[in-house]
Amino acid sequence: MSTYPRIIAHRCGGALAPENSLAGLAIAARLGCRAVEFDVMLTADGVPILMHDETLRRTTTGHGRVAAMTLAEIRRFDAGGPHHAAFAVAPAPTFSEALAACQRLGLWPNIEIKPAAGHDEATGETVGRWLAEHWNGTGVISSFSEKSALAARRVLPQFPQALLVERLPADWRTQLDRRGASAVHLAADHLTPLQAAALNDVGVTWAAYTVNDRVAGERLFALGAAALFTDRPDLWLPDEMQAAGA
Ligand code: G3P
Ligand code: MG
Repeated sequence: MSTYPRIIAHRCGGALAPENSLAGLAIAARLGCRAVEFDVMLTADGVPILMHDETLRRTTTGHGRVAAMTLAEIRRFDAGGPHHAAFAVAPAPTFSEALAACQRLGLWPNIEIKPAAGHDEATGETVGRWLAEHWNGTGVISSFSEKSALAARRVLPQFPQALLVERLPADWRTQLDRRGASAVHLAADHLTPLQAAALNDVGVTWAAYTVNDRVAGERLFALGAAALFTDRPDLWLPDEMQAAGA
Protein backbone atom coordinates (compact mmCIF):
# COMPACT_ATOMS: atom_id res chain seq x y z
CA MET A 1 0.00 0.00 0.00
CA SER A 2 1.55 3.22 -1.12
CA THR A 3 1.42 6.32 1.02
CA TYR A 4 2.13 8.55 -1.98
CA PRO A 5 -0.38 11.29 -2.73
CA ARG A 6 -1.45 10.76 -6.35
CA ILE A 7 -0.31 14.10 -7.74
CA ILE A 8 3.14 15.52 -7.00
CA ALA A 9 3.93 19.09 -8.11
CA HIS A 10 7.13 18.68 -10.14
CA ARG A 11 9.76 21.35 -9.31
CA CYS A 12 7.03 22.79 -7.03
CA GLY A 13 4.64 23.05 -10.00
CA GLY A 14 7.01 24.70 -12.42
CA ALA A 15 4.50 25.66 -15.12
CA LEU A 16 2.48 27.84 -12.75
CA ALA A 17 5.31 29.53 -10.87
CA PRO A 18 9.09 29.74 -11.05
CA GLU A 19 10.43 26.20 -10.74
CA ASN A 20 11.83 25.20 -7.34
CA SER A 21 10.34 28.28 -5.68
CA LEU A 22 8.49 29.14 -2.49
CA ALA A 23 5.78 30.70 -4.67
CA GLY A 24 5.39 27.33 -6.38
CA LEU A 25 4.91 25.60 -3.04
CA ALA A 26 2.24 28.10 -2.01
CA ILE A 27 0.38 27.82 -5.33
CA ALA A 28 0.51 24.01 -5.31
CA ALA A 29 -0.94 23.96 -1.78
CA ARG A 30 -3.62 26.47 -2.71
CA LEU A 31 -4.70 24.22 -5.59
CA GLY A 32 -5.18 21.34 -3.16
CA CYS A 33 -1.94 19.55 -4.00
CA ARG A 34 -0.51 17.61 -1.05
CA ALA A 35 2.88 16.62 -2.44
CA VAL A 36 5.79 18.38 -4.12
CA GLU A 37 9.09 17.48 -5.72
CA PHE A 38 12.09 19.79 -5.72
CA ASP A 39 15.81 19.59 -6.55
CA VAL A 40 18.50 20.31 -3.97
CA MET A 41 22.07 21.40 -4.82
CA LEU A 42 24.94 22.71 -2.70
CA THR A 43 26.42 26.21 -2.92
CA ALA A 44 30.19 26.71 -2.68
CA ASP A 45 29.83 27.39 1.05
CA GLY A 46 27.93 24.14 1.55
CA VAL A 47 24.36 25.46 1.86
CA PRO A 48 21.66 23.30 0.24
CA ILE A 49 19.37 25.35 -2.02
CA LEU A 50 16.56 24.57 -4.46
CA MET A 51 18.12 24.48 -7.92
CA HIS A 52 17.86 22.19 -10.93
CA ASP A 53 20.67 23.28 -13.23
CA GLU A 54 24.36 23.46 -12.36
CA THR A 55 24.41 27.04 -13.63
CA LEU A 56 22.21 30.04 -12.83
CA ARG A 57 21.62 31.11 -16.42
CA ARG A 58 18.28 29.46 -17.26
CA THR A 59 16.31 30.16 -14.08
CA THR A 60 17.78 33.36 -12.64
CA THR A 61 18.97 36.80 -13.71
CA GLY A 62 22.53 35.72 -12.88
CA HIS A 63 25.15 33.48 -14.38
CA GLY A 64 27.89 31.23 -13.09
CA ARG A 65 28.17 27.81 -11.51
CA VAL A 66 26.12 27.11 -8.39
CA ALA A 67 28.89 24.97 -6.88
CA ALA A 68 31.41 27.80 -7.33
CA MET A 69 29.33 30.57 -5.74
CA THR A 70 28.37 31.28 -2.14
CA LEU A 71 24.78 31.50 -0.98
CA ALA A 72 25.10 35.28 -0.66
CA GLU A 73 26.39 35.59 -4.23
CA ILE A 74 23.58 33.42 -5.62
CA ARG A 75 20.89 35.23 -3.68
CA ARG A 76 21.83 38.57 -5.21
CA PHE A 77 20.05 37.33 -8.34
CA ASP A 78 16.32 37.04 -9.03
CA ALA A 79 14.98 33.50 -9.47
CA GLY A 80 11.35 34.68 -9.85
CA GLY A 81 11.31 37.34 -12.57
CA PRO A 82 12.71 35.12 -15.36
CA HIS A 83 9.52 32.99 -15.11
CA HIS A 84 7.19 36.00 -15.07
CA ALA A 85 7.42 39.60 -13.90
CA ALA A 86 4.64 38.83 -11.40
CA PHE A 87 7.13 36.70 -9.42
CA ALA A 88 9.99 39.22 -9.31
CA VAL A 89 12.03 39.64 -7.16
CA ALA A 90 12.70 36.39 -5.27
CA PRO A 91 16.04 34.72 -4.60
CA ALA A 92 16.46 30.96 -4.94
CA PRO A 93 15.16 29.41 -1.71
CA THR A 94 17.31 27.49 0.71
CA PHE A 95 16.41 23.89 1.50
CA SER A 96 15.52 24.87 5.06
CA GLU A 97 13.14 27.61 3.80
CA ALA A 98 11.48 25.05 1.56
CA LEU A 99 11.12 22.54 4.42
CA ALA A 100 9.61 25.23 6.65
CA ALA A 101 7.12 26.08 3.89
CA CYS A 102 6.23 22.40 3.44
CA GLN A 103 5.64 22.12 7.18
CA ARG A 104 3.43 25.22 7.22
CA LEU A 105 1.47 24.20 4.12
CA GLY A 106 1.14 20.51 4.99
CA LEU A 107 3.06 19.37 1.90
CA TRP A 108 4.72 15.95 1.57
CA PRO A 109 8.14 16.50 -0.03
CA ASN A 110 10.09 14.41 -2.52
CA ILE A 111 13.59 15.73 -2.01
CA GLU A 112 15.59 15.05 -5.15
CA ILE A 113 19.29 15.29 -4.37
CA LYS A 114 20.76 16.98 -7.44
CA PRO A 115 24.53 17.14 -6.97
CA ALA A 116 26.70 19.32 -9.15
CA ALA A 117 29.35 17.14 -10.82
CA GLY A 118 31.85 15.89 -8.26
CA HIS A 119 29.72 16.83 -5.25
CA ASP A 120 27.63 13.67 -4.97
CA GLU A 121 28.56 12.55 -1.49
CA ALA A 122 28.69 16.00 0.11
CA THR A 123 25.25 16.86 -1.29
CA GLY A 124 23.70 13.58 -0.14
CA GLU A 125 25.25 13.84 3.30
CA THR A 126 24.14 17.47 3.71
CA VAL A 127 20.56 16.69 2.65
CA GLY A 128 20.43 13.83 5.16
CA ARG A 129 21.83 16.00 7.93
CA TRP A 130 19.48 18.91 7.22
CA LEU A 131 16.47 16.62 7.12
CA ALA A 132 17.50 15.14 10.45
CA GLU A 133 17.78 18.63 11.94
CA HIS A 134 14.92 20.50 10.24
CA TRP A 135 12.20 17.98 9.39
CA ASN A 136 10.18 15.61 11.50
CA GLY A 137 7.54 14.65 8.94
CA THR A 138 7.43 12.05 6.22
CA GLY A 139 8.46 12.31 2.56
CA VAL A 140 10.90 10.55 0.25
CA ILE A 141 14.49 11.14 -0.91
CA SER A 142 15.49 10.33 -4.48
CA SER A 143 18.51 10.91 -6.69
CA PHE A 144 19.90 9.92 -10.06
CA SER A 145 23.21 9.69 -8.17
CA GLU A 146 23.61 6.46 -6.24
CA LYS A 147 26.56 8.01 -4.37
CA SER A 148 24.30 10.82 -3.15
CA ALA A 149 21.52 8.43 -2.18
CA LEU A 150 23.88 6.20 -0.21
CA ALA A 151 25.48 9.19 1.54
CA ALA A 152 22.02 10.37 2.64
CA ARG A 153 21.20 6.82 3.73
CA ARG A 154 24.29 6.70 5.97
CA VAL A 155 23.25 9.90 7.75
CA LEU A 156 19.50 9.22 7.88
CA PRO A 157 19.03 5.45 7.57
CA GLN A 158 15.31 5.35 8.34
CA PHE A 159 14.11 7.98 5.84
CA PRO A 160 12.23 6.51 2.82
CA GLN A 161 14.14 6.51 -0.47
CA ALA A 162 13.13 5.96 -4.08
CA LEU A 163 15.29 4.78 -6.96
CA LEU A 164 15.23 7.59 -9.54
CA VAL A 165 15.90 6.61 -13.17
CA GLU A 166 14.93 7.67 -16.66
CA ARG A 167 14.58 4.13 -18.00
CA LEU A 168 13.97 1.16 -15.74
CA PRO A 169 17.29 -0.73 -15.68
CA ALA A 170 17.36 -4.51 -16.01
CA ASP A 171 18.80 -4.83 -12.49
CA TRP A 172 16.28 -2.51 -10.83
CA ARG A 173 15.58 -4.93 -7.99
CA THR A 174 19.30 -5.11 -7.14
CA GLN A 175 19.52 -1.33 -7.25
CA LEU A 176 16.50 -0.98 -4.95
CA ASP A 177 18.13 -3.37 -2.47
CA ARG A 178 21.48 -1.61 -2.67
CA ARG A 179 19.89 1.74 -1.85
CA GLY A 180 17.37 0.39 0.65
CA ALA A 181 14.74 2.05 -1.54
CA SER A 182 11.08 1.11 -1.53
CA ALA A 183 9.84 2.95 -4.62
CA VAL A 184 10.85 3.72 -8.19
CA HIS A 185 10.51 7.11 -9.92
CA LEU A 186 10.87 6.86 -13.69
CA ALA A 187 10.27 8.81 -16.89
CA ALA A 188 6.76 8.26 -18.25
CA ASP A 189 8.03 8.55 -21.83
CA HIS A 190 10.19 5.45 -21.59
CA LEU A 191 7.94 3.21 -19.51
CA THR A 192 6.53 0.11 -21.21
CA PRO A 193 3.42 -1.82 -20.07
CA LEU A 194 5.65 -4.85 -19.48
CA GLN A 195 7.86 -2.86 -17.12
CA ALA A 196 4.81 -1.53 -15.28
CA ALA A 197 3.55 -5.10 -14.88
CA ALA A 198 6.94 -6.24 -13.53
CA LEU A 199 6.88 -3.46 -10.93
CA ASN A 200 3.28 -4.24 -10.02
CA ASP A 201 4.06 -7.97 -9.69
CA VAL A 202 6.42 -7.36 -6.79
CA GLY A 203 4.22 -4.67 -5.28
CA VAL A 204 6.76 -1.87 -5.55
CA THR A 205 5.39 1.67 -5.49
CA TRP A 206 6.21 3.54 -8.67
CA ALA A 207 5.64 7.09 -9.87
CA ALA A 208 6.17 8.63 -13.30
CA TYR A 209 7.50 12.02 -14.45
CA THR A 210 6.74 14.47 -16.02
CA VAL A 211 3.08 14.22 -16.95
CA ASN A 212 1.35 17.42 -18.06
CA ASP A 213 -1.60 15.81 -19.81
CA ARG A 214 -4.70 14.26 -18.20
CA VAL A 215 -5.15 11.50 -20.76
CA ALA A 216 -1.54 10.36 -20.40
CA GLY A 217 -1.99 10.52 -16.63
CA GLU A 218 -5.08 8.29 -16.67
CA ARG A 219 -3.19 5.77 -18.81
CA LEU A 220 -0.36 5.67 -16.26
CA PHE A 221 -2.75 5.25 -13.34
CA ALA A 222 -4.40 2.38 -15.25
CA LEU A 223 -0.96 0.79 -15.62
CA GLY A 224 -0.54 0.95 -11.84
CA ALA A 225 1.25 4.23 -11.12
CA ALA A 226 0.90 5.28 -7.49
CA ALA A 227 1.60 8.90 -8.39
CA LEU A 228 2.48 11.31 -11.16
CA PHE A 229 4.89 14.22 -11.17
CA THR A 230 3.39 17.18 -12.99
CA ASP A 231 4.25 20.81 -13.73
CA ARG A 232 0.45 21.38 -13.96
CA PRO A 233 -1.20 20.32 -10.71
CA ASP A 234 -4.09 22.58 -11.74
CA LEU A 235 -5.17 19.90 -14.25
CA TRP A 236 -6.39 17.73 -11.39
CA LEU A 237 -9.13 18.46 -8.86
CA PRO A 238 -8.20 18.64 -5.18
CA ASP A 239 -9.93 15.34 -4.31
CA GLU A 240 -8.19 13.57 -7.21
CA MET A 241 -4.82 14.76 -5.95
CA GLN A 242 -5.21 13.73 -2.37
CA ALA A 243 -6.31 10.12 -2.53
CA ALA A 244 -3.44 7.79 -1.64
CA GLY A 245 -2.10 5.84 -4.58
CA ALA A 246 -2.08 2.11 -5.26
O1 G3P B 1 12.43 13.60 -9.58
C1 G3P B 1 11.73 13.48 -10.78
C2 G3P B 1 12.22 14.46 -11.81
O2 G3P B 1 12.30 15.72 -11.23
C3 G3P B 1 13.56 14.08 -12.38
O3 G3P B 1 13.96 14.92 -13.42
O4 G3P B 1 15.40 16.66 -14.35
O5 G3P B 1 13.13 17.25 -13.54
O6 G3P B 1 14.92 16.69 -11.93
P1 G3P B 1 14.37 16.46 -13.30
MG1 MG C 1 13.76 16.83 -10.09
